[in-house]
Amino acid sequence: MPIDGWAGEIHPAAELFPLMEGDEFDALVDSIRSQGLREPAWLTKDGALLDGRNRVRACQAAGVKPEFRQYDGDQPVEFVIALNLNRRHLTEGQKAFVALSAVPLLAKDAEVRQKAGKKLDLPAPGREGSKHDRETVSRAARLTGSSGRSVQRAKRIDDADKELAAKVQSGELPLKTAEQQLKRKQAQEQEQQARVIVMAYVNSDAQGDKWRMYVGDFRERLNEIPDGSVDLILTDPPYPREFQELWSDLANHASRILAPQGILCALSGKIQLPEVMGRLGEHLNYGWIYSQPLPGSHSRIMARQILQAWKPWLAYSNGPWPSGRIDWHPDVLDPSARAKGNYRWQQDPDPARMLIDALCPQGGTVLDPFTGTGSYGVVAVDMGRTFIGMEADSDRFTQAVKRLGGQA
Ligand SMILES: C[S@@+](CC[C@H](N)C(=O)[O-])C[C@H]1O[C@@H](n2cnc3c(N)ncnc32)[C@H](O)[C@@H]1O
Repeated sequence: MPIDGWAGEIHPAAELFPLMEGDEFDALVDSIRSQGLREPAWLTKDGALLDGRNRVRACQAAGVKPEFRQYDGDQPVEFVIALNLNRRHLTEGQKAFVALSAVPLLAKDAEVRQKAGKKLDLPAPGREGSKHDRETVSRAARLTGSSGRSVQRAKRIDDADKELAAKVQSGELPLKTAEQQLKRKQAQEQEQQARVIVMAYVNSDAQGDKWRMYVGDFRERLNEIPDGSVDLILTDPPYPREFQELWSDLANHASRILAPQGILCALSGKIQLPEVMGRLGEHLNYGWIYSQPLPGSHSRIMARQILQAWKPWLAYSNGPWPSGRIDWHPDVLDPSARAKGNYRWQQDPDPARMLIDALCPQGGTVLDPFTGTGSYGVVAVDMGRTFIGMEADSDRFTQAVKRLGGQA
């Protein structure tokens, strides 16, 4: 605002130092009111305010007429920094920000001096990161009592987060703390972004050359599978009692999507076996029970005092059992029982491999409505079958998609 002796224009160097606020400013007003203005404000030859923004404001608040003097030199930035550096009690961070703001002004002043025929006291301007830039930064750091490293820090904060930068400039936050906060924030943002990408990934179905994964509840998603298009349903549904209903839905859908004489093979617990078989039998024909041995890890079935050593795979067919189509094969899914078998027991996919080999024609389609992380799908694709999977849990769905896509 124009005041007697000053038209209101402000030189950029006048804004290098933070404005005084609160108690600091009130103290300046009190001092000017009681003792008058001890230091005049400075104007450039063109009449722009070079130094004294706070004193002029405080004079107005105190009802005292400000005084101005003219600066005749050609290094206004150096002049302002020298005047204010000891007058103000600045933190390391504040000094670094003063230096950062001073960098372009110092470069411009050097240019003006050069045009006026004076010797260039900085290397000639070049591309970003040039010697000129580096030396201007070190000059700004030196003038403000800061360091090149702190100025770089201030720049990183200023470029990335103006709110944090303002906190350092006001002296509220030390430079190092602000940088740590910035790093934490950026890491969180990156993590969040990665999560959004995964979410975008899992919220939609995915497919590859020989497989397709549907995300969601199989009871809805199976409606999208054409009648009679699946040769083998190979699956491991959840066992607990509250999931019993799912067996009826599974059998019902299976009777529609399985090809004539197609087979459903499902691993089951033994406690609820009669009920499970009852539900499957409502829509499909009982075929056989295969045994999957559980070597080495006998689970204790508390309700029966039994150390369980095998699990049943229940095989039901859609219509008559396809005896004419399938070959002779063993009903214990023990890979070592194979003539040339040289497999290790722990290889979980092996029972699935044997079932697919025996029950699904070459090039046929295998479906697992409880895909989990996709073990059976990986085996099916590896054996040249087409695989269709469904999974309600988004994390497991993502893992299955990654495994099927060869990324895990
Ligand atoms: C026993 S796990 C299957 C493990 C799987 N064989 C594997 O290799 O990871 C059963 C899976 O069925 C999923 N599931 C349970 N209810 C479901 C439903 N209604 N629709 C689709 N998936 C379901 C569960 O999230 C779980 O991942």
